[in-house]
Amino acid sequence: MCMPSHLCRYHRRIMLICSPCFVLIPMYIYVSLAVTYTMKHGTSMFSHLPLLPTRFIATGLNFSKDLAPRPEKVFWRTELDSGAVWNFIQHIEDRRNNPILKPALIGASVNHSSIPNDTERSLWRSSGSCSTDNEILNIMPDYETFSTQMKDFVMSMHCRDYPMILGPRDVCDHGPHAKTRAPMLLLAIKSQSANFENREAIRQTWGRSGRVKGWEKEGGRVRRVFLLGTAKDSHTENKLKFESKIFGDIIQWNFTDTFFNLTLKDVLFWEWFSRRCPHARFIFKGDDDVFVRTPAILDYLQGEEEKTGTTTKRSTQSNMKQFVVGDVIRNAAPLRGKETKYYVPKSFYEGLYPTYPGGGGVVYSGSLAHKLFEVSQRVHLFPIDDVYLGMCLERLGVLPINHPAFLTFGFPEDEPKDPCAIHTILLVHKRSPTDMFQLWTETSTPSPECRNTTLRVKPRVP
Ligand SMILES: *[C@@H]1O[C@H](CO)[C@@H](O)[C@H](O)[C@H]1NC(C)=O
Ligand SMILES: *[C@@H]1O[C@H](CO)[C@@H](O)[C@H](O)[C@H]1NC(C)=O
Ligand SMILES: *[C@@H]1O[C@H](CO)[C@@H](O)[C@H](O)[C@H]1NC(C)=O
Ligand SMILES: *[C@@H]1O[C@H](CO)[C@@H](O)[C@H](O)[C@H]1NC(C)=O
Ligand SMILES: *[C@@H]1O[C@H](CO)[C@@H](O)[C@H](O)[C@H]1NC(C)=O
Ligand SMILES: *[C@@H]1O[C@H](CO)[C@@H](O)[C@H](O)[C@H]1NC(C)=O
Repeated sequence: MCMPSHLCRYHRRIMLICSPCFVLIPMYIYVSLAVTYTMKHGTSMFSHLPLLPTRFIATGLNFSKDLAPRPEKVFWRTELDSGAVWNFIQHIEDRRNNPILKPALIGASVNHSSIPNDTERSLWRSSGSCSTDNEILNIMPDYETFSTQMKDFVMSMHCRDYPMILGPRDVCDHGPHAKTRAPMLLLAIKSQSANFENREAIRQTWGRSGRVKGWEKEGGRVRRVFLLGTAKDSHTENKLKFESKIFGDIIQWNFTDTFFNLTLKDVLFWEWFSRRCPHARFIFKGDDDVFVRTPAILDYLQGEEEKTGTTTKRSTQSNMKQFVVGDVIRNAAPLRGKETKYYVPKSFYEGLYPTYPGGGGVVYSGSLAHKLFEVSQRVHLFPIDDVYLGMCLERLGVLPINHPAFLTFGFPEDEPKDPCAIHTILLVHKRSPTDMFQLWTETSTPSPECRNTTLRVKPRVP
């Protein structure tokens, strides 16, 4: 009720003109207060961020209003939101090896009760002793629910010091010619004692040792080793010893050859490579049930070397320090179905897998293999070998190159049949020993209409 009426009108006008003022006035006061406060104290009252000691501050710099603001968030993870065992123990390892945190800041603002003491740490040393330890069970309450292979894996995952039982001969030269006579391509093929036929087919087809000519380029020296663990059957084992005597291309380590132990082959191979064959320019690492067009791989690699400016003639060291190529898999998640052989429980690993090249066949440079050997000392074993390679690459900051000619899952099913298709690939999975002979003949002497076929560049759209 307004009385008298002129006052009432006046009041209404104020209301009309000045209603924004009611909002703006407190804001104005707040801002001026804040500015005054900031000028006085050198820090903003809006920011309640404590000075976290884990943030990296370059020595010599002090926090002050004259400097650019620090990032809101640390750029590595100091806390771990996952309780999964692998993530947990690797987190400790990563922090320990963080070049910025190291050495003083380790553990600075991390929940201390989640940091193992030295005793616990020594249990998790990547290259610790191989005696069985049951202490891991303390941090894995649901161990009993694991599959047998997962149980076996966790009980031995701290161990990677398995001695070599069979070693290869004359794969790489030692002494004065070690560099000049180093292989251009070293084939490292994962096999199992019983797969004698696969090895035999590979030896006679795509895995031939010696000088291999490319189709377009000069090619180079190719050498081959098979990577094996041990089998229970002593008859097979004896045959393998015999085979090794004849061909000298077997590396066997004394660990049980199971699916979840395949990662050991990578790690132990990197070690062997770094010691015994350090000058090889490239490595093909793959399974014994793939078919590889070795001459085409040589062409491809020489093409890449030319692109990066490495002279191919008489060159012993490639410039391609971070080169790794294959069928690259991104954003893969662990399989949680207990029936698959890839099953990894949530309590063991959480999160997506890093980007990795499929394990059926991958090619990387010798220089990268040395780096992989080093970094693998700081990455806990993981039950799936190609994912493990991805984990190592991630820590080296190396991104694998995807090449559609690596068909680690075979030809796309929806692809129209093309008689020349085999000439467009570098590798195809999965092929029997009989297939290998047939494909080798076919690719070594292409029919006239396929002679000009080039490598596939993109997945073909049907
Ligand atoms: C940084 O600040 C600390 C504490 O305010 C002071 O002791 C130190 O001398 C300062 N360092 C530099 C380089 O200004
Ligand atoms: C620290 O970690 C332990 C075990 O992981 C947990 O029980 C505890 O609540 C954590 N404390 C804090 C302050 O986050
Ligand atoms: C480290 O932790 C283990 C297991 O939690 C414990 O048994 C041991 O006493 C601890 N050692 C030290 C030095 O705190
Ligand atoms: C391999 O290791 C087992 C123990 O795991 C041992 O009994 C065996 O003697 C070893 N074999 C060789 C040839 O070293
Ligand atoms: C791997 O090999 C070791 C040594 O033979 C064995 O103790 C362990 O159980 C094997 N791991 C798996 C997952 O089979
Ligand atoms: C293949 O290429 C060569 C030269 O590049 C050409 O002369 C020949 O006709 C081609 N053959 C076919 C079957 O396309």
